[in-house]
Amino acid sequence: MGINIMSFGYYVPEQTLTNNDFTRFVETNDEWIRTRTGIVERRMAGWEPTWYMGAQASLKAIEKAGISPEDIGLIITTTVTSDFLTPSMASVIQDKVGAVNSAAFDLNAACTGFIYALDTARRFLATDDNLKYVLVVATEALSRFIDFNDRGSCILFGDGAAAVVVEKSDKLYASHLASDGSGASYLCARSLNIAPEVKIENGFDDGFTDNPLHKLYQNGKEVYKFATNVLPKSFNIIASKIGITKEDVDWFIPHQANVRIIETAAKKLGVSMDKFVVTLDHYGNTSSASIPLAFAEAVEDGRIKRGDKLALIGFGAGLTYGGIVMEY
Ligand code: COA
Repeated sequence: MGINIMSFGYYVPEQTLTNNDFTRFVETNDEWIRTRTGIVERRMAGWEPTWYMGAQASLKAIEKAGISPEDIGLIITTTVTSDFLTPSMASVIQDKVGAVNSAAFDLNAACTGFIYALDTARRFLATDDNLKYVLVVATEALSRFIDFNDRGSCILFGDGAAAVVVEKSDKLYASHLASDGSGASYLCARSLNIAPEVKIENGFDDGFTDNPLHKLYQNGKEVYKFATNVLPKSFNIIASKIGITKEDVDWFIPHQANVRIIETAAKKLGVSMDKFVVTLDHYGNTSSASIPLAFAEAVEDGRIKRGDKLALIGFGAGLTYGGIVMEY
């Protein structure tokens, strides 16, 4: 059983931060950021909480799907930047959109979150005959836990949200979900309850405990290596599962972290960059929201059409990775 993405909705914050704006915080320049990452500008949540962006994206997706919020049976929200430790963003969004008959939970698989959530939605739809519609919402406000003193990471991220309404279908669908926890310390931020002075034996001590509480730490080089490796790997695993080749795919929608990562992966796969959807130039890396934002934009501007075969591939903290090959 596959799924049909009935509709998209998205919301990006009003405020835009250009590369030049970062010269106020760190020693950097537009040219370095453009050539090393492909990013030109990104949105930054100001007054908008994470739940608000997710709810706005959800309301648009529900309206476009032409369904009643009461018909939604499950909401899965993906985020690494929840406004609360509890309740979940999904429960807050449930209330804001009026999905009174829905179950709701958050899923944190970092930047791979949307892949994990869409696959989870499919599994729920496949096993519950009473479930008609699932709302998957990716909403992220990374600007709230970026270290604006760290020039190697603060320039990469942006904020935004995107949502989809999905239903059962017999369209092509295959997935691959994976994680390599041995790389957990390469991309991480402490939660509220562990003070930075606490040392964990064999834990996240390496270059991490000295970082400011709740701020994102990353080892850019290790993450880069990981990303350029797993992007083609994940696609090849799915392709061999269902006996397709890269030529069968109309569009690749990768996680939007760095255009050089995408270019390297494209080269490894032997696929032209023309087949890759890239939106990181204007949104930066919006973690789990990046794939659905890119997807929504390419549908809106007419690049992706109904019937197209797509490869969605994510990677991120965890280190998690995975992909979905599906028909739109
Ligand atoms: N502006 C100017 N110079 C910068 C800079 C910035 N914003 N950030 C780093 N530099 C400097 C470094 O300090 C270093 O200077 P040095 O040679 O004097 O020490 C130099 O640029 C090269 O740094 P390096 O880390 O080798 O650059 P890089 O080409 O590896 O690019 C990243 C750095 C972070 C862009 C790259 O490693 C990357 O994209 N990694 C993956 C990160 C990612 O995608 N994370 C999220 C995954 S979900």
